[in-house]
Amino acid sequence: MLVSAKEMLEKARDGKYAVGQFNINNLEWTKSILLTAEELKSPVILGVSEGAGKYMTGFKTVSAMVKAMIEELGITVPVALHLDHGTYEGCYKCIEAGFSSIMFDGSHYPIEENVEKTRELVKICAEKGMSLEAEVGSIGGEEDGVVGMGECADPAECKKIADLGVDMLAAGIGNIHGQYPENWPGLRFDVLEEVKKAVGDMPLVLHGGTGIPEDMIKKAISLGVAKINVNTECQLSFAAATRKYIEAGKDLQGKGFDPRKLLAPGAEAIKETVKEKMELFGSVGKA
Ligand code: 13P
Repeated sequence: MLVSAKEMLEKARDGKYAVGQFNINNLEWTKSILLTAEELKSPVILGVSEGAGKYMTGFKTVSAMVKAMIEELGITVPVALHLDHGTYEGCYKCIEAGFSSIMFDGSHYPIEENVEKTRELVKICAEKGMSLEAEVGSIGGEEDGVVGMGECADPAECKKIADLGVDMLAAGIGNIHGQYPENWPGLRFDVLEEVKKAVGDMPLVLHGGTGIPEDMIKKAISLGVAKINVNTECQLSFAAATRKYIEAGKDLQGKGFDPRKLLAPGAEAIKETVKEKMELFGSVGKA
């Protein structure tokens, strides 16, 4: 059964660890992440961008697949199905499709409009028992067509949004989607500290989890981050393992071209990446 992310994130905040949000793109991705979470007894959040939802033919397909997979694989750990960087319209589609959590990314609206739209979604999510993530300040880089300039969040604006009763808050602190450039100056812990002071107990979300050094991840968790999003890193490990298989000519040996064989090394590589992240985030054994 899907659960809202509220309880798992409150536990993570109190226990000083973070729950990973791993983005899904297809059946293999979903299966690898769910099996790893179960094996490690870790709570998990499956993130779905609007682009990935469209690719998988729509949010209803995604929701039905995830629910059926949880049942047929016998997954017992808490799993939240979460819209990643949702538009206002996308949020409504996911509410209707049976997601258990949504992110409304109103960071590109003027703050008053972000507040009004978030307020409306807070009400609906509360009625449906779903969790809601909001964003203030933008995450730099590009993810599935969502481009952010990477402005750091204004703590006063964070408080305005947090006070509406959202369950988790993504605040821009110099983080970027995709790989970090060589000259990236690192996370702005000074901003994170100010945001934390302004929003109190609110679980904070760190986007752009790919490539953030371990010490920064640990420091961010110690300062109130309870959810960390990872997308690109699973894509890179899937691609590298698939490349290796094909470059070794394995697809040409026997029935190596069978998609179940062709996609298997990539699926195993995703499991390995998810395992490393869950260990780093401290969510192992916390289900
Ligand atoms: P990365 O692709 O950099 O891991 O970021 C993922 C993310 O923040 C999803 O919202």
